[in-house]
Amino acid sequence: MICEAIDVVTTDVCKFKFWEAFSTEIPRKEKGTFQRDKTPFITFVLGGPGSGKGTQCMKIVENFGFTHLSAGDILRREIASNSADGTMILDTIKEGKIVPSELTVKLIQKEMESSDNYKFLIDGFPRSEDNRIAFEQIIGAEPDIVLFFDCPEDEMMKRVLNRNQGRVDDNIDTIKKRLKVFSALNLPVVKYYLERGKLYKINAVGTVDEIYKQVYPLFAQFNFEQQV
Ligand code: ADP
Ligand code: C5P
Ligand code: MG
Repeated sequence: MICEAIDVVTTDVCKFKFWEAFSTEIPRKEKGTFQRDKTPFITFVLGGPGSGKGTQCMKIVENFGFTHLSAGDILRREIASNSADGTMILDTIKEGKIVPSELTVKLIQKEMESSDNYKFLIDGFPRSEDNRIAFEQIIGAEPDIVLFFDCPEDEMMKRVLNRNQGRVDDNIDTIKKRLKVFSALNLPVVKYYLERGKLYKINAVGTVDEIYKQVYPLFAQFNFEQQV
């Protein structure tokens, strides 16, 4: 498992600590993204390519009424809209590299600001420490919880090659690059949240329902209905 090296250091904080999940170290912005009645509940959804983030997010949306913001989908929409940054984003995705953080964060910010919801699943983000810091600086908030779908590389590779959504980056050469970028840049982010007690590690091997059985209780504990 990819998280093994991290487990050795601080397995304890992988345990559920719901009561700590609401802490924020950075003050909320006075104007902008979070100027609405309710304090946002932000979940970052991490995991390698093909670990099942999008699949599980759809189920969380259904059960708990979250708004799903996939950073990859937002970037692909930006390409499709022929924006000035489209060509650069496409080239970056084809290479399996990370799009400049400020651009991605501002796109996420736009989606958050135009949503009436206060519960957000931000999927495939932050992909790097640079992404993480840019979010803190631009949005002025930290996640309440962070999910990490832990999946072996050979399983991720198999799933991505079978995805069949016509993605330019779902080919063997780009997947190898994405897996390297994931280990080098995303795992440090996983470690960061692990050390702060915000990480919920999910074993991403098994059927979709078996995996969701680990995810469901994390959200059920928050009893969101009472917060509406
Ligand atoms: P990610 O968003 O992490 O890249 P996806 O949710 O798109 O991953 O899943 C990648 C592919 O694997 C999709 O074709 C999806 O249907 C499939 N998939 C998702 N979860 C599982 C699972 N538990 N077992 C087998 N295949 C899965
Ligand atoms: O998450 P997803 O697999 O859809 O991401 C596809 C690609 O989008 C990534 O490999 C990367 O090139 C780009 N991306 C990014 N920054 C993010 C999320 C995705 O550059 N935070
Ligand atoms: Mg996805």
